[in-house]
Amino acid sequence: MPQHIAIIMDGNGRWATERGLPRSEGHRAGARQLATVADAAARLGVQYLTLYAFSTENWRRPIAEVTALMGLLREFVDERLPELVERNIRLWTIGRTDDLPAPTRNALRKAIEATSHNTGITVTLALSYGGRAEIADAVTRLLAERAGDTRPVTEDDIRRHLYHPDLPDPELMIRTGGEHRLSNFLLWQLSYAELYVTPVYWPDFGEQQLREAIDAFSRRERRFGNVPAK
Ligand code: FPP
Repeated sequence: MPQHIAIIMDGNGRWATERGLPRSEGHRAGARQLATVADAAARLGVQYLTLYAFSTENWRRPIAEVTALMGLLREFVDERLPELVERNIRLWTIGRTDDLPAPTRNALRKAIEATSHNTGITVTLALSYGGRAEIADAVTRLLAERAGDTRPVTEDDIRRHLYHPDLPDPELMIRTGGEHRLSNFLLWQLSYAELYVTPVYWPDFGEQQLREAIDAFSRRERRFGNVPAK
């Protein structure tokens, strides 16, 4: 069982369009699915689940879609907070979250604080997140701290300055919606992750599909640059 699963939740727009619905309805269905999948992952014993909810590039979408997503996110966090607390789920975020609108930021801050002592699964939402931005932000903070220190920068130096240094590397990255791309997600952390792509759109991805992805993962041989084990 992977300890940490990362997911690119793609296909909300296509799911909605194929049903003659506005794209925002696809995101609404996607948000519901997020709760279902987090529950299933917790029951299966996964300890960390990290979800790509909004990328640094998503700011380029039509303003109406961005506004709908930010509203949905605030609603989702407010509505689900009692459930997060009751189910012992800890909420974290990664990304340039200062760029989010104040009501969304405040709802997130409240939920992060209220769940900070929970000991079950850690659900991390990547928001206004980009993998390159994360590395650039890490280097910026590192340099600010090193003033005049010219020793080589180590991998560990970078890791300690990522948005959440306590987040372990994901062993499995799932992408729904069929595209074989990383789309600037967790570039540092996914170095050795197994990648699993399914054509299923995110609003249709549930416990059954999660189990299939984990089964496929458990059949893979992970070598980390070494030779096959005898
Ligand atoms: C990709 O689908 C999905 C997103 C850009 C947003 C993900 C958001 C959610 C799952 C729900 C809202 C999040 C929270 C945390 C409440 P797409 O729009 O790119 O789909 P397409 O590729 O079919 O157009």
